[in-house]
Amino acid sequence: MDADDTTTGDRVALVTGASRGIGAGIARQLLDRGVRVAGTYRSGGELVEKLGAAHPGRVLPVAFDLAVPQTAADVVEQVTAHWGRLDSLVLNAAVWQGGKLARIDLGDWWRVIEENLRSTAALVRAAIPWLIRGENPGVVLIGSAVGSVGFPGDTAYASVKSAAVGFARSLAKELAPQGVRVNVLAPGFVDTDMTAAIPDGSRQKIADATLLGRFGTVDEIARAAVFLAEDATFCTGAVLAADGGWTL
Ligand SMILES: NC(=O)c1ccc[n+]([C@@H]2O[C@H](COP(=O)([O-])OP(=O)(O)OC[C@H]3O[C@@H](n4cnc5c(N)ncnc54)[C@H](OP(=O)(O)O)[C@@H]3O)[C@@H](O)[C@H]2O)c1
Repeated sequence: MDADDTTTGDRVALVTGASRGIGAGIARQLLDRGVRVAGTYRSGGELVEKLGAAHPGRVLPVAFDLAVPQTAADVVEQVTAHWGRLDSLVLNAAVWQGGKLARIDLGDWWRVIEENLRSTAALVRAAIPWLIRGENPGVVLIGSAVGSVGFPGDTAYASVKSAAVGFARSLAKELAPQGVRVNVLAPGFVDTDMTAAIPDGSRQKIADATLLGRFGTVDEIARAAVFLAEDATFCTGAVLAADGGWTL
């Protein structure tokens, strides 16, 4: 379907990495608000299907591997062929691999940069013709507190997450004339599979260094992401910290 042929109806959001963790939380909350959700997955397609159990016909699972950014246009095509519009894009999926710079394999280091940044640029680029015709259109990049204050072993991941801020602010300036808002959500430490391997001692140290004294929950982060995607009509180029005060 051509971007000129958009139909009216309920809003449509594309959420990457919707099979687990924060992305699944964002998808659930969008669905509860009446937004139709296309959720991407790499391996967990059945988990995205399950999100739709309480919302028949309102979830579209779409396969997307960050390592294959050439398929970004197909992802957007699948969503818009199905629903005829796209109002928001939440870039949540991310590749993480840690390792101190002195020891990490440089190929692995570069893979973290390349897969995350290329897929971001490719997806946004494919979505722009649709977003500019959307209703209260918005792009939300899930960044990280690590992108602003750093973390040992995270030179690659932190580079990606701080790049998200420069990317978002530049894109905000490019797309503001067409009414598309672009914002970043920067979570602190959140209980998901991504942080499950952090040893208990380190977890406690991180919680102690967080003003609110704990890790965040998926629902707390999802609420902030949905706020930026749906409600923050006068925010663009903003970076919202949802880190319990870890970066203060
Ligand atoms: N957890 C934290 O403490 C924390 C803190 C700050 C920022 N963040 C950010 O929040 C976002 C979500 O993190 P999370 O903790 O919810 O992660 P998670 O629980 O590990 O879930 C990752 C999601 O991304 C998808 N994914 C992973 N690798 C992929 C790839 N190569 N191609 C396509 N999809 C891929 C997974 O899909 P499949 O399951 O289908 O493979 C899954 O849906 C990320 O951007 C992360 O950097 C997390």
